[in-house]
Amino acid sequence: MFGVHETKMTTAPVLFLTSGDLIADRRYLWAMDHLTLGDLAGAAEVLLQAIEIAPEFATAWFALGTIRDKQGDWSAAIAAFQKARDADKDDYHGARLQLARLGADETTPDMTATYVRRLFDQHAPRFDDSLLNRLAYSAPQKLLAAVTAAAGGKLRLGSMLDLGCGTGLGGAAFRPLVDWLVGVDLSPAMIARAAAKGLYDRLVTAELKEALDDEIAARANYHLVLAADVFVYVNDLGPIVNAIAQVVAPEGVVAFTVETHSGAGVKLLPTLRYAHGESYIRGVLAGAGLASAHLAPASIRSERGIPIDSLVVVARTSTVTRRPASSLS
Ligand SMILES: C[S@@+](CC[C@H](N)C(=O)[O-])C[C@H]1O[C@@H](n2cnc3c(N)ncnc32)[C@H](O)[C@@H]1O
Repeated sequence: MFGVHETKMTTAPVLFLTSGDLIADRRYLWAMDHLTLGDLAGAAEVLLQAIEIAPEFATAWFALGTIRDKQGDWSAAIAAFQKARDADKDDYHGARLQLARLGADETTPDMTATYVRRLFDQHAPRFDDSLLNRLAYSAPQKLLAAVTAAAGGKLRLGSMLDLGCGTGLGGAAFRPLVDWLVGVDLSPAMIARAAAKGLYDRLVTAELKEALDDEIAARANYHLVLAADVFVYVNDLGPIVNAIAQVVAPEGVVAFTVETHSGAGVKLLPTLRYAHGESYIRGVLAGAGLASAHLAPASIRSERGIPIDSLVVVARTSTVTRRPASSLS
């Protein structure tokens, strides 16, 4: 799935940020040729030559870290990932996540917008096929069932905000029930695919919190705010859920999925996605003035044929102090 950096050692990694030096870039491509032939040692040697020419070459450092990791040389992998991180503060490659995975970083780092955008721009062409035909993806259907049950079996929605809408799989499930559908995603390639399906009344290419801040400023009130399989890319859900609570209509509903774990708090999984504990989710909802109407274990997709532990969550505003739903977009 879309989390682990899958640099296959028999094919060249598609990640690339130029070093700014033509010769170093060419060495990198030469190293990728070695990888294509399965020659890890040869690739590492040529990467070291590229790095000698361009010491701040983040892509080469990251590729070297990935090779050392595959070779089982953890301390060399950590050293290379640290160089990649230091050379690129936007963390295009995800070096900070790799360092956390290898236990070299004590904190659980946030994913940068640059990293998530790159990840999904890269996967967009095969996203629907992977999710629907290989990963048994069912978050939209499980959320639809949970939201319908919470509404007492009848569902008609004036407006819906689909956060992290991706290619529109969630939008497609809810569209027949919604008059006005808005989608937000930071990946232009995912948004382009959602647009091609003609499902949304409005699509916004933006980071979640920034988009929500704009919605708050516009005094938007949505009957449903959905986030299907999106919060696995968000470490601290507090600020996002607080912002969501400000754009839900008084009788409105918030529905989302998370990957979960049996402990407390947030964990970065080996897959490089976050898992949020149930008590953490309950705390975040309460902190935002939301009451859970449904919070149940489920599996929304599989990973190498194994169902992953998830929660399907439906929440409502728990106070009557919200302004009326005057503007539904
Ligand atoms: C696994 S896909 C799910 C897409 C869609 N909700 C679905 O059910 O198919 C996660 C999506 O969330 C988006 N995303 C992740 N973090 C985001 C953020 N901080 N801001 C905006 N979009 C984000 C990604 O670009 C990606 O399209």
